Amino acid sequence: MLAADVREVLKLLVSHELAVKRLYEIYASKFPATRELWVRLAGDEEQHAAWLRELCWDESLETTDFDTGRFRPDTIRASMDNLQKQIAKAETGDVTPGAALLTAHYVENSILERDYFKVLEADSPEMQSVFERLAAETRGHREAVSEAMESEGS
Ligand SMILES: [Fe+2]
Repeated sequence: MLAADVREVLKLLVSHELAVKRLYEIYASKFPATRELWVRLAGDEEQHAAWLRELCWDESLETTDFDTGRFRPDTIRASMDNLQKQIAKAETGDVTPGAALLTAHYVENSILERDYFKVLEADSPEMQSVFERLAAETRGHREAVSEAMESEGS
């Protein structure tokens, strides 16, 4: 993959993080009991998008091979479609607090299972550091949502 394509993938990941942020913001406005959690997670997603955006301008990307053993842009686009559906559903009000937690768990878990932030040996140190941070925070999000599910009894 050429460097230009790497930037396209990173831009897709930025949009993906911002769509997750949007979803959590809607949840925050709808569910007072879990508002604090959603506000915190939404803030994190904003930060994730900022890290990825910064990475887009990194000169070391010129030598990055994004194609080997990594996910395909189509996968992120499919995730985006699902997120848009969840956002529309949340906006129309047809979601319970428990269902919101389940959706968030699915979203965070999919990011991890599809290896969106998989680090390859050939990656630049900058990319490794950003992707490692993103994977760690996504694991933290999945855990926070799991804990909320337990206290919710769902
Ligand atoms: Fe997240």
